[in-house]
Amino acid sequence: MKISKRLETIASLIPSNSKVIDIGCDHALLDIYLAHEKNCECIASDINNNALDQARYNVLRFQVKTVTLMLTDGLDNIPIHDEDIIVISGMGTSTIEHILEGKKLSRRLIISSHTDFEDLRRYVVSLGYRIEDEKYIEEKKKAYIIMSFVKGDVSYTDEDYRYGPILKKNVCYIENEREKVLEIINQLPKGNDEMKRRTKILEELDKLRNNA
Ligand SMILES: C[S@@+](CC[C@H](N)C(=O)[O-])C[C@H]1O[C@@H](n2cnc3c(N)ncnc32)[C@H](O)[C@@H]1O
Repeated sequence: MKISKRLETIASLIPSNSKVIDIGCDHALLDIYLAHEKNCECIASDINNNALDQARYNVLRFQVKTVTLMLTDGLDNIPIHDEDIIVISGMGTSTIEHILEGKKLSRRLIISSHTDFEDLRRYVVSLGYRIEDEKYIEEKKKAYIIMSFVKGDVSYTDEDYRYGPILKKNVCYIENEREKVLEIINQLPKGNDEMKRRTKILEELDKLRNNA
């Protein structure tokens, strides 16, 4: 079964035979792939009924028996066990934080936000997790970051939170960040505070590029 590179990368972080809870499953293609290719048992949930209708259709189409669909907000009413893997992907960091806030969570979380990566790292680490892995991928001219967290205690530097303890050694990621910062700098009036701030970031990225 073929899925997007982004979903395939998320799946690559999930061992065979896992129990997965996918919050905001939408079409549930990740869960169907995991059930089909990796013998996983999945709870695929979404807050939106139309998304779940599409998921229901896909589950029937691919004839998988180990994907259970649930209509719910975040983790509400979902039974969580320590060994489960919770996946949250394709949302912004504030929604992800709202979903995790005050909830019983499992040992491992796989999260792919499209905003505020530094805030996300800081928040999840504050819940008692360490960053186990980070993937950077580009697909259809868009860049995605996928983070895998596992319960544990590690102290991180500001640089680790900003760029990721693993991603800061990833040349493709650093190059992409440099290009984005350069593009912004080129549009800013010379000498203003924002330009000085961005130039400092560019220097940090140059240093990381040289060390990567
Ligand atoms: C852009 S889609 C991402 C789908 C899939 N996870 C992926 O990565 O391809 C975001 C999905 O999250 C769902 N969603 C947003 N907030 C949610 C919440 N609080 N609880 C459950 N699902 C939510 C939306 O309804 C939507 O289907």
